[in-house]
Amino acid sequence: MAGMAGMAGMAGMAGTAGILSRRLWRYHAGACQMRKGDLRECGTMRLKDLDTPCVVIDLDRAEANLARGQAVVAAAGLAMRPHVKTHKLPCMALRQIALGAVGVTCQKLGEAEAMADGGIGDIFVPYNILGATKLARLAALHARVVLSVTADSAQTVAGYAAAFTDPAHPLAVLVECDTGMGRCGVREADGALALARQIAAAPGLRFGGLMSYPARGQQSAADAWMAACVARIQAAGLAVPVVSLGGTPDLMAVGGLRAATEYRPGTYIYSDRMQVAFGHGTFDDCALTVRATVVSRPTPTRAVLDAGSKALAADLCSLPGHGHIPAYPQAVITSLSEEHAVVDLAPCAARPQIGEVVAVIPNHACVVSNLFDRVWLARGDAVTGAADVTSRGRLA
Ligand SMILES: Cc1ncc(COP(=O)(O)O)c(C=O)c1O
Repeated sequence: MAGMAGMAGMAGMAGTAGILSRRLWRYHAGACQMRKGDLRECGTMRLKDLDTPCVVIDLDRAEANLARGQAVVAAAGLAMRPHVKTHKLPCMALRQIALGAVGVTCQKLGEAEAMADGGIGDIFVPYNILGATKLARLAALHARVVLSVTADSAQTVAGYAAAFTDPAHPLAVLVECDTGMGRCGVREADGALALARQIAAAPGLRFGGLMSYPARGQQSAADAWMAACVARIQAAGLAVPVVSLGGTPDLMAVGGLRAATEYRPGTYIYSDRMQVAFGHGTFDDCALTVRATVVSRPTPTRAVLDAGSKALAADLCSLPGHGHIPAYPQAVITSLSEEHAVVDLAPCAARPQIGEVVAVIPNHACVVSNLFDRVWLARGDAVTGAADVTSRGRLA
């Protein structure tokens, strides 16, 4: 737990009515240790002292989720490379690495740059990076961290080959494969082999292996697809150093994988209502909540919260309602506008009053992380710190 305690201590605190010190707020890479001065700054702040809407991370739950995920991936003999899209926090990424992760995964170049700024030294960007502007940024990133990317077309590989020409410091490129998700990726082993050959033939590139984002529940089939693809590429004389799969819904089933060498879960750190619906843990595992105030009770069965789509995000994720309120488990958040959530209290025996603050487990934690400049870190009722969400809003 020391790492998480350090995380809490790293970000300085003041009451929400107080003045925040930029010096204390700034995250210091590598300082994953408790700093007594910062903890004094944290004082005796409680959840009730936080203004709303805000995001609170339950550190005990996050730590338990991280440890459980790391253990199951390690037991399967896989390297852990968590996706930071869920937390977007260098301090959490450093904690994941301290627990055994070999590096991190970032979907966007901007997220990767923010992670590098935060002290992360090994980053996988499973994305087709196109265009001179982004390739120049990619080259700058390659100069300061161990970097790998993906490609699923000859055009993407040609762009990398033109931008990276140093055989002494090649860019690792993995071929993205579509094993059923229906998003990016080559759909035939021969297509993967053609790209592998193109990458291997480029002096400034290195064929890094294969990557796929399997559809939920299709992980075993994806792994079998990858095994056949690896065999095809090896038969052509090329080594396949890495086979990267991953996703939280199938995290607990990694034990049966045989082609995969790395795993990239993201949401496992916080979990959310969608993951619980998928059968990944329970609401008691959910570490991220949005705290919101009941600002109106227009009818006996309706409450309105001060957290709308700007705070909860509008992803329904095929679920009934826009989040779960543990204190009122029967309540249904029926609609969101930007600054309001409308809650149907009809099924509830007990009902919140105006001014009451409730915690909401969002449908999709990752998109909520992208909406807030900072998150509060808590243990139980005690607010122990805060962290700037430095990778949020990095869309390019
Ligand atoms: C390429 C890729 N890898 C890994 C993940 C992590 O998935 P999850 O959040 O379900 O763990 C995602 C999520 O969108 C992804 O797009």
